[in-house]
Amino acid sequence: MTDHYAVIGHPVAHSKSPLIHALFAAQTGQDMTYEAIEAPLGDFTGTVARLRSAGFRGCNVTVPFKFEAFKLATRRSARAESAQAVNTLNFSGEVIEGDNTDGAGLVRDIENNLGIMLQGRRVLLMGAGGAAYGVVLPLLQAGANLTVVNRTPEKAIALAETFPDAAIQAGGYAALDASPFDVVINATSSGLTDELPPLPETALSSATLAYDMMYGRETPFIALARTRGARIADGLGMLVEQAAEAFFVWRGVRPDTQTVLSQLRKT
Ligand code: ATR
Repeated sequence: MTDHYAVIGHPVAHSKSPLIHALFAAQTGQDMTYEAIEAPLGDFTGTVARLRSAGFRGCNVTVPFKFEAFKLATRRSARAESAQAVNTLNFSGEVIEGDNTDGAGLVRDIENNLGIMLQGRRVLLMGAGGAAYGVVLPLLQAGANLTVVNRTPEKAIALAETFPDAAIQAGGYAALDASPFDVVINATSSGLTDELPPLPETALSSATLAYDMMYGRETPFIALARTRGARIADGLGMLVEQAAEAFFVWRGVRPDTQTVLSQLRKT
C-alpha cells in the first residue's frame, strides 16, 4: 500500500521537498507519495487533522508553522525540545511524534559532504532566532567548540543559557577577538535583505569554512568570505540532508544524498 507524506507551509509552492523526497523514494524503492500543502495561516492544526484522517503517515513543516507543530506534537525528541521547533511529524496511531532534523542536516552536510569533522573545532554561529536554535544541540553533540553571537547580544546569551551544561561563549559581535574561526555559520535572516551581520572580517581566514544556511543567492556574508579567501558553502546541502534525516525517521532507510544534491545543483 502506498504511504502518503507532505510538507505543510505558507507559502509552500516554491518548496523543493517534493522533488527531493520523490528522488529519495525512487532511489530506495519506497512506495510513497509526497506533496506540498499550503495551510491557511490560522489553520495549521486543522490541516494536520485532515491529513491524519486521510491516512497520511507524516509530514514536514516549514515556515511559519514550526512552533505550532512543536506545540501540536504529543511526543517530542530531544533535538525538537532544544530547537523549540518541529520540522518533522510522524503519525503513529494516536501519537504525533515531533522531531527536528535541521541541525542534524547541517552537521551531516558539514561533516559528510564538506569533509570537516566538527569535534574540537572553533565554530561561530551567527544569529539567535529560530534558525540558530534549530542547530545548536547537534553542533554540540558533534563536539564543536561553540560561540554564538547576535546583533542583540542578550538573545545569544539567552540561547546559551538553555544549555547550562555546555561551555558556549555568547554575546555580541563586538566582543569577538581577532582570531579566525574554523567554521562560521550564518543563521541570521540578514541575507534576505542583502545585509551583512557586523562580523569582524578577522573572524574569517583562508582556512575557514563560511557556511550560509540560505541558498539560491549569494549573500553579503558569502561575498565577504570570498574576499577573505575562505571556503564557502550555501544551505542547499543542509536542505537535502534535513530531508534525508526526515526520510530516515519515517522509513528507516537512509537515502544517498550526493546524487540528489548534484541533481539539484544542476537545475
Ligand atoms: P529565523 O527563524 O530565520 O532565525 P528570526 O527568529 O526572526 O528568524 O531571527 C532572525 C535572526 O537574524 C536574529 O538573530 C536577528 O538578530 P536580532 O535578534 O538582533 O534581531 C538576525 N538578523 C537579522 N538581520 C540581521 C542583520 N542585518 N545583521 C545581523 N543579524 C541580523
